[in-house]
Amino acid sequence: MNCCLPYGRQAIDELDIQAVVKVLRSDWLTCGPAVTEFERVVREYIGVKHAIAVSNGTAALHLCCMALGVQPGDVGVTSPLTFLASANCIAYCGGRPDFADIDSTTYCLSPDRLEEYIRKNGVPKVVIPVDFAGVPADLPRIYAMAKRYGFAVIEDAAHSIGSTYIHEGKIIRCGACVHSDLAIFSFHPVKTVTAGEGGMVLTNDDALAAKVQMLASHGMERSPALFQPWPVRNADGTLQEQPLPADPDFVKAPWLYQQQELGYNYRVTDIQCALGTSQFGRLDEIMQRRRVLFDQYQRAFGSNPQLICPPCPEGSDPAYHLYVLRFKEGAESLRLAACATLRENGIFAQVHYLPVYLQPWYQRQYGYPRGKCPEAEAVYGDCLSIPLFPGMTEEDMQKVIRIINGLTV
Ligand SMILES: Cc1ncc(COP(=O)(O)O)c(C=O)c1O
Repeated sequence: MNCCLPYGRQAIDELDIQAVVKVLRSDWLTCGPAVTEFERVVREYIGVKHAIAVSNGTAALHLCCMALGVQPGDVGVTSPLTFLASANCIAYCGGRPDFADIDSTTYCLSPDRLEEYIRKNGVPKVVIPVDFAGVPADLPRIYAMAKRYGFAVIEDAAHSIGSTYIHEGKIIRCGACVHSDLAIFSFHPVKTVTAGEGGMVLTNDDALAAKVQMLASHGMERSPALFQPWPVRNADGTLQEQPLPADPDFVKAPWLYQQQELGYNYRVTDIQCALGTSQFGRLDEIMQRRRVLFDQYQRAFGSNPQLICPPCPEGSDPAYHLYVLRFKEGAESLRLAACATLRENGIFAQVHYLPVYLQPWYQRQYGYPRGKCPEAEAVYGDCLSIPLFPGMTEEDMQKVIRIINGLTV
């Protein structure tokens, strides 16, 4: 039995440790071969053209918004039932994050509510559906709307590394960008696989990939073939675009780089990527273990009339990132009692999530009213994420089940 049970925890094995140690003994700690290898492994597993490893999932979302040109005056719509980063990334670019309600059967952004939003408020620049708890959002419908109305789609797949959905008879992996322009993963320790911290931007679009790559490293271009004419400010203040000197030695100077955009240091280390690659190699095994634990909870709580088990929509194979239970009658006091009793027993449940627009910064900044997204507020009002991670023992599971069923049946 684990001494204390959080709602999620990394699954590190000896091979992961050896992979990290190998990097520590090598010549490269950052921007080296382990980064390239991690990107290759993710690209091939997911089936996407470009995978760019970055420092975390938040940075990945910020880079996506920048690459799409989100700027002041633009609106980005996301799900209210998500982590702050899905909305903050729009504000980082000076845009206004807004929210359309979730679908009550998947807890992901509802295409119907999005359609209503657009009819009422106009077309946003970008829409960021979130695969809540690993359940894929209705990406095919949202992407069809994107084509009709002309907005871009970033799939926030932070919870859905390894999830799949079926569209027109084909199995599609979350993050493959079949129904989005860009997608992101997070490799935070509570996610399905971890790199300590880390994120990934995925896309099939060459131009967006090049932009993300450049913005993730200070907006710097090192390849002389891609250098731009060099603008120089004259003493009188005028700007002169100087063509690159014809002298081949100038452009061949190996030390030369150009800052072409205002980018960031969102790079990730070889140490993180070695762990990420090692973990990704066990993704199927980790998912299988999560599935077994998830099914065990479903069986234990399925017939409890006071509980609502998490959705597992037909046709999708979610990554079982979270187990989000909902309480029915007297939900508020039951949830509090469950949370307190779990805590007394060393079990730390969590609530995913307070709708983002109710956060103090959002209230001050944008003043969205309570009641804006009733479905998301209802989930927030009665949900609890209980422990679900591969290292849980049978004894751990039984303890959680006993406490919850003991309080509710
Ligand atoms: C849905 C969602 N999006 C984005 C992020 C941000 O990822 P990171 O913590 O790697 O910055 C998270 C992380 O918790 C998340 O849950």
